[in-house]
Amino acid sequence: MSEWTPSTWRALPAEQQPEWPDEHALEQALKTLSTLPPLVFAGEARALRAALAQVAAGKAFLLQAGDCSESFNDFTADSIRDKLKVILQMAVVLTYGTGTPVVKLGRIAGQFAKPRSAPYEVVNGVQIPSFRGHMVHDDAPTPEARRPDPSRLIAAYHQSASTLNLLRAFTKGGFADLSQVHMWNQQFVASSRQGQRYEAIAGEIDRALRFMAACGIDLRAEESLHQVDFYTSHEALVLGYEEALTRRDSLTGAWYDTSAHLLWVGDRTRQPEGAHVNFLSGVGNPVAAKLGPEATAEDVLALCRILDPGREPGRLTLIARLGAGRVERLLPPLQEAVRAAGHPVVWVCDPMHANTFMSDGGRKTRRLDDVLAEISGFFSACRVTGSWPGGVHVELTGDSVTECLGGAEEIVEDDLELRYTTTCDPRLNARQSLDLAFQVAELLRAG
Ligand code: PEP
Ligand code: CO
Repeated sequence: MSEWTPSTWRALPAEQQPEWPDEHALEQALKTLSTLPPLVFAGEARALRAALAQVAAGKAFLLQAGDCSESFNDFTADSIRDKLKVILQMAVVLTYGTGTPVVKLGRIAGQFAKPRSAPYEVVNGVQIPSFRGHMVHDDAPTPEARRPDPSRLIAAYHQSASTLNLLRAFTKGGFADLSQVHMWNQQFVASSRQGQRYEAIAGEIDRALRFMAACGIDLRAEESLHQVDFYTSHEALVLGYEEALTRRDSLTGAWYDTSAHLLWVGDRTRQPEGAHVNFLSGVGNPVAAKLGPEATAEDVLALCRILDPGREPGRLTLIARLGAGRVERLLPPLQEAVRAAGHPVVWVCDPMHANTFMSDGGRKTRRLDDVLAEISGFFSACRVTGSWPGGVHVELTGDSVTECLGGAEEIVEDDLELRYTTTCDPRLNARQSLDLAFQVAELLRAG
């Protein structure tokens, strides 16, 4: 086999690629991208890989979270801060619940491209191309807006750069201070009747912090309690973009996709002989693959062989999105097969994507109860196979949207019209996300 390069994928079938109307403009945009500085650094991707190796060993837990699809229109410091805030809050609760460090990985600073089940949709009786993310076109439901525009690839790069800049500042500049994050959690618990259900856990965390302080640990001065490592990830979908940001690491000579720390292939692009898997096989970043209910043990083993030939802990994460009613039946055979083949993968539960349905009003939605049921089923499956439940992958926002049903505010179908702002899949709002974190902590305590 000839040596892999960032363009090897071009000779292979690539699903889900935009139909760019102007080939020349596309080439120009990709050429520009290939001259721009890396967004993340190889050393950081290696640090994430090492952190994920800890998860693979059952010594840490992964929280991967963010928008289904980031928006060019909702791009403000406040919205990034609020998203980070809820992820940090969830991480503190999960750290306590799992008794292990939580690796924080955003679906952020690059999550701008979407695979779609159908190439077209019908809006107001007119057939238009399905929305494929702001990296490709605008989401407005008109044929003009849905025309792919390569200048958006450059815009996605710049928005990713600004987002990363802010995330780095927030996570290293004091915003992630443990005492402060814990205080926000206490406010959440105190501010609603449902939140009070979590008083026990919040109280235990509080006592743990006071115990540390009593032992002489200065909670404000101790750097590890003041700063966090926060990593970025997105689906490596538009391969021209990923190729243009793939660079050789000057230290090791290996190729790294510098568009994010971790890249994943979706359930629609995980064909072992396809372009997307080939692309990820050659980069040194930690990588992941989504597994839907159709995934067979053979499919998963083929992915393991290609993406983790060296059987290296931290290299490959498998994200199961099987459905609340199916995870307990479908996951164990996959876990057994991977274990028998000797791949030390991280197993993560995406409890969102197989629990989506249309409301009577025609809105895509999810029930928080189904999301929690899938997580619970995931934990049960892992107990059966003796696998470490390595983490959760959720779609959320810090805004008070009404896109998913249930939770502390008891959002019902009629509420979906109030604040439904996602450009793609329905996200948990901040309170639903915290609800989820506390309930997962309760599950872990019970288990
Ligand atoms: C997603 O993560 O938004 C997505 C499309 O996932 P999947 O590939 O699992 O359908
Ligand atoms: Co989604």
